[in-house]
Amino acid sequence: MTKTTLAIGQIGAGRIGRLHAEHLQYRVPRADLRVLADVNEEAAQDCAQRLGIPETTDDYKTVLNRDDIEAVVVCSPTSTHAQIITEAAAAGKQIFCEKPIDMRLDRVDNALAAVEEAGVKLQMGFNRRFDANFARARAAVQDGEIGKPHLLHIISRDPAPPPIEYVKVSGGIFMDMTIHDFDMARFLMGCEVEEVYTAAGVMVDPAIGKAGDLDTALITLKFANGAIGMIDNSREAVYGYDQRVEILGGRGAVQTDNNYPNAAVISGADRVSRDLPLNFFLERYADSFVAEMNQFVEAVLDDAPVPVTGVDARAALLMALAARKSYDENRPVRLSEMDGGG
Ligand SMILES: NC(=O)c1ccc[n+]([C@@H]2O[C@H](COP(=O)([O-])OP(=O)(O)OC[C@H]3O[C@@H](n4cnc5c(N)ncnc54)[C@H](O)[C@@H]3O)[C@@H](O)[C@H]2O)c1
Repeated sequence: MTKTTLAIGQIGAGRIGRLHAEHLQYRVPRADLRVLADVNEEAAQDCAQRLGIPETTDDYKTVLNRDDIEAVVVCSPTSTHAQIITEAAAAGKQIFCEKPIDMRLDRVDNALAAVEEAGVKLQMGFNRRFDANFARARAAVQDGEIGKPHLLHIISRDPAPPPIEYVKVSGGIFMDMTIHDFDMARFLMGCEVEEVYTAAGVMVDPAIGKAGDLDTALITLKFANGAIGMIDNSREAVYGYDQRVEILGGRGAVQTDNNYPNAAVISGADRVSRDLPLNFFLERYADSFVAEMNQFVEAVLDDAPVPVTGVDARAALLMALAARKSYDENRPVRLSEMDGGG
């Protein structure tokens, strides 16, 4: 008989954790969220009370030790992911983990080895793959609608930079922000990136530069199939969250626009205008967060492959490391250089 629900424990009840918990409770029909863990148990309790989650704990190991819990959803800070993945795999739990696994390749490799050894599933939270616009652009490439892809352009600009305290621990723009775009580049083109070349600077806030980071970047990509791409990032677009892609192929192009709160266009004597795009990722990508979690639960219950793997997360990390090296050394960097190769 097909199993109908998946018993889940969630670790982390912060910004993204509260969102996933709400989805697991109300928008993922086959999920059975039983326990919420957070070192700040008050945060877990607040969230659990609001959503009707039966139990909370301040120690994630309690979740891993429970025999009735089949899967964990990891939403704690990035610095905890590799360790929790490793322990969860050893406990035989199926794993959904927010991106990234870690900022260091050796720690990622250790965590992936633990997953492989335990034979459990690991899905990573690269939610943009589940966005309807981007999924359609991917299909246009995959189905040959635009012919052989030649050129990719990803525009990915935040409405405003994060607090400087966050910038200091974020791992930098490539690790924190562009990581999603690196994953999108591989996903949209259906092809690996072999080389990156970064031009970047500090144009939004000198404090970001003082913290050792960058806030504006163009990263060129060379794909294994010969196609080329460009990621265009800024920490501040004054008109709001700007998330668009275009792919040009031999038989046409596919492009996606921003998402807006409404489709109204106001026409007057001196201008035609519309409201600003949806302001940030929680609004812009709301549906994608629900879709990724439904697909994780389905993949576990139906024993199907997960749609975004640890290997995908590793590839995005390599690109982030290479992009920073390219900026630091002002030269194109091949990904193989970051992976022990020359
Ligand atoms: N996919 C996305 O678009 C997206 C968006 C935001 C954040 N994230 C990722 O999600 C993760 C969390 O980010 P956030 O913005 O929710 O952070 P946050 O700081 O708001 O929340 C983290 C929570 O984890 C708790 N925590 C810390 N250590 C813990 C531990 N050992 N065990 C249990 N709980 C612990 C904290 O008390 C806090 O409540 C990060 O890895 C981040 O990169 C992904």
